[in-house]
Amino acid sequence: MHHPKPASSVGILDFPALVRVRRDAARRHRLFQAPDLTYLFWESTLRCNLACKHCGSSCEARSDVPELTTDQVLGILDTIAQDFDAKRIFVSVTGGEPLLRHDLYTVIEHLSKLGMRSCIVTNGTLLGACQAARLVDCGMDTISISIDGTRELHEEVRGKGTYRKALAALSRAREAGVQLVEAITCVRPANLDKLEQIERAVTEAGAHAWRLITIDRMGRLARADDTQMWLEPPQVRQLLDFIETRRREIDKSGSPFRIQFSCGGFLGPRRELAVRPGDGQCFAGLCVASILCDGAVSACPSLPRSWAQGSALEERFSTIWRTRFQAFRDTSWRKTGVCADCSWWDVCRGGGLHERLAQPESFCWLERQEG
Ligand SMILES: C[S@@+](CC[C@H](N)C(=O)[O-])C[C@H]1O[C@@H](n2cnc3c(N)ncnc32)[C@H](O)[C@@H]1O
Ligand code: SF4
Ligand code: SF4
Repeated sequence: MHHPKPASSVGILDFPALVRVRRDAARRHRLFQAPDLTYLFWESTLRCNLACKHCGSSCEARSDVPELTTDQVLGILDTIAQDFDAKRIFVSVTGGEPLLRHDLYTVIEHLSKLGMRSCIVTNGTLLGACQAARLVDCGMDTISISIDGTRELHEEVRGKGTYRKALAALSRAREAGVQLVEAITCVRPANLDKLEQIERAVTEAGAHAWRLITIDRMGRLARADDTQMWLEPPQVRQLLDFIETRRREIDKSGSPFRIQFSCGGFLGPRRELAVRPGDGQCFAGLCVASILCDGAVSACPSLPRSWAQGSALEERFSTIWRTRFQAFRDTSWRKTGVCADCSWWDVCRGGGLHERLAQPESFCWLERQEG
């Protein structure tokens, strides 16, 4: 379904969407003045049993970045539970590969005791029935597993033998009773025409949901002008068209399966609500924070590490959140370049932060759809 009009244009039929988009934006903008922590990433390790070609964290078997000990992690989480409303905080355990941490179950169990909900983002290769059952026993209710293509295309970036294991992990998680089993696909030119097959594979394996994302120029791809990993505007439109169509068809069919696009920027009034539910823009530092592998505290693990605002080993996490996060809440520096005269500034406020820093020439999602 090709939209003949530019992504930024508005017609009379777009009015209801526009009202919602503006209402969502107003709610997000209030958070700049009154931040409200509800989403916490824990970058559990930067080690990984894989070394994917596109890895935005440049992970491999060993890492020089020190890791928090179990006691340090639990101690930091305790202070967070004391200083915030733990029941409203969702913790996403990411990496590296979280399943390489032998204390993963201890930490997940602790999160549950504190009243926080949790998920892990994993490559799935180390998740068997036992691991899945243990995670459920510890109270984890969501799991996101990366599936980057059909077998050949997944293994082209993730390595031989990884596809079968990742798909099996979706099934094991579902069988173990994980409440939300999500597949995540990094879309690149090579797998763009295979989305139907990928959808079939992940649904057959038991996924409840499927999130499609694009690849940022971070980590191993930092500053790379890699045409194999980057979608040009017609390809971005093809991806968004696919998601929009499938969301509509799935809605009509009454199936509970959920598909959504994920990026930190504004997609335009027509696209924004057609490819994802509600406000999917960047909340870094507004309701999202991260504990990095070594205890540094940042807004989002995808930001350059120089953006960390202190260490939870030296200061209370809540002090850093309250007094040092100004850098994430001041958007004045973002009203420059393409954003300087943008009529959508009030809705968007300069795009997704990590995307802006990773690819300063092409972070605007209105521009990424044009041409
Ligand atoms: C860094 S990984 C960590 C979790 C786990 N090791 C995995 O691969 O799922 C978290 C997510 O980021 C995605 N990712 C990796 N490199 C990326 C990049 N350059 N741009 C966008 N997403 C990326 C992965 O595919 C995965 O879904
Ligand atoms: S994307 Fe995930 S699985 Fe692949 S190297 Fe990075 S951390 Fe490991
Ligand atoms: S130009 Fe800037 S403010 Fe406008 S939509 Fe693009 S990223 Fe957002």
